[in-house]
Amino acid sequence: MKTASPQLIARLLLTASCAISPMVFAHGDVTPQAVDTKTLPSLGEQWREENPYRGSNEAIRIGTSAFAQNCARCHGLQAVSGGIAPDLRQIDRDCLTQKDETKKQACFKEIDNYFTLSAKRGKTRNGAVYMPPFEGILNQEAIWSIKAYLETLRVMPAMPAMAAPQSSAKPAIAEKTSSKKKL
Ligand code: HEC
Repeated sequence: MKTASPQLIARLLLTASCAISPMVFAHGDVTPQAVDTKTLPSLGEQWREENPYRGSNEAIRIGTSAFAQNCARCHGLQAVSGGIAPDLRQIDRDCLTQKDETKKQACFKEIDNYFTLSAKRGKTRNGAVYMPPFEGILNQEAIWSIKAYLETLRVMPAMPAMAAPQSSAKPAIAEKTSSKKKL
């Protein structure tokens, strides 16, 4: 996963903390918003490995406001990242171009797992909290609803332009000739 250096993120978070919500950030204290999921089929205690609400309109509706209230201040309004945190519209981007249907489904499942794990545990590096844990605050229904919402915002990767043939060959040759010249 391509992520900025911890230092950069720390600096960005610091900037954000001053600009957006000094109280919340300065104390590492988050005011989470309760999410009402009563209108969704209940999922019980056992965490699912895959999003059971994929494409559900009610889940998408709930996920839209749950995201806006709990995630948008870092991950951006409508999940368009301003650079502070990863752009969650892109989280299963690599799965979308997978041609083999079995591998594609396995890819979505893996990302689903990673998503709920990230949301439950939050993100901590070198003792610094980059994202607070949502376990015990948002239930499984709310977290899957957020994922269902994000799935409606997926950005398809540009197809043909990506397949630049042997793009790594050129710099390698250029490097060789230039180093020969120097010698
Ligand atoms: C205080 C800011 C903040 C809030 C609030 C926040 N996040 Fe994050 N989130 C981050 C940062 C920063 C990272 C990247 C951490 C890293 O790279 O170690 C991250 C990473 C993630 C990742 C992993 C993304 C990836 O590409 O690896 C997921 C999934 C995620 N957040 C989901 C959520 C959800 C869902 C919510 C709301 C319920 C949320 N986050 C709320 C800051 C936040």
